[in-house]
Amino acid sequence: MIDQLYRKAVLTVSGQKPIETLVRSRGWGVAQRFVAGEDAQSALRAVKELEKDGILGNLDLLGEFVTSPDTANEFAGRVLSLLDDAHAARLKPYVSVKLSSVGQGMTVEGEDLGLANARRIVARAKGYGGFVCLDMEDHPRVDQTLAQFRTLVGEFGNAHVGTVLQSYLYRTEGDWASLQDLEPNLRIVKGAYLEPETVAMPDKADVDAAYRRLVYAQMKAGSYVNVATHDEGLIADVEHFALAHGISRDAFEFQMLYGVRRDLQKDLAARGYRVRAYIPYGRDWYPYFSRRIAERPANVMFVLRGMFKG
Ligand code: FDA
Repeated sequence: MIDQLYRKAVLTVSGQKPIETLVRSRGWGVAQRFVAGEDAQSALRAVKELEKDGILGNLDLLGEFVTSPDTANEFAGRVLSLLDDAHAARLKPYVSVKLSSVGQGMTVEGEDLGLANARRIVARAKGYGGFVCLDMEDHPRVDQTLAQFRTLVGEFGNAHVGTVLQSYLYRTEGDWASLQDLEPNLRIVKGAYLEPETVAMPDKADVDAAYRRLVYAQMKAGSYVNVATHDEGLIADVEHFALAHGISRDAFEFQMLYGVRRDLQKDLAARGYRVRAYIPYGRDWYPYFSRRIAERPANVMFVLRGMFKG
């Protein structure tokens, strides 16, 4: 409950225009803890750097809520260029995409533009032997995102496209069950958006319990699972579950955010687990940065110190 209040306070304050203006003008130095840089080359350098510790990358071009088909297409074009750049740098591209940023909800020539652009992106990634994960956004987008995920798996198979389920939503275990015919590649997260109590569990203990159930169910079903959390207790439980049930280390991976718990990322990789860092980059870093601050009270002090020092 307290976590929920804290998250609500931070996301409400960070949504105020004067705060946004202030943080955008003074906060870039601090944001760089969580954001790899403003362009694709910086993000690719971060991937190469992490590789030295045996950690894989998951590239995320930042940008949310586009307002016109032109800007959505332009954004999709930048993701396609990122795939080309990653391939040219001899990396198997792994990217995350928010369907809202490529036009979800806009209809062009009778089709949802988000789906049309996602199709171009998954086709390009597949051509390079890569992978695209459809990030999950706030709850009004869940139905359409899952439907579009289903369409894309139908067209490209489940080895090149995956999506995300958020354990804080009451609906999610039902969603998990409804996707099982696809043998889907799923990233399980707790959920990062400010959601009403009618749709999301307010108590952290319930969210954590649902998280365990989802990961264990996905493992038992034999489908690939991306365990995306920094919660050490959860990670230890997943390790034990996998050992106890004979789940191979090839059947799952741990995923964490760039700049968060690097020690834990390195430790898991050194112990032979597959670990992937989610590496955001781009000029539109503010909404992503706000969600990271909302996840941990200590981050607010980190930001204030960083913005007003000297
Ligand atoms: P929890 O919040 O319980 O934190 C556990 C511990 O981790 C904390 O005590 C702290 O030490 C550390 N920690 C967590 N967040 C931190 C931070 N920002 N800074 C410093 N320390 C921190 N959400 C979503 O809604 N849709 C999505 O598509 C994704 N995608 C995604 C991908 C990946 C790879 C990750 C790791 C996470 C996401 N998320 C997400 C975000 C997710 O929903 C959630 O908000 C964060 O992972 C924080 O929750 P934890 O599971 O880490 O646990």
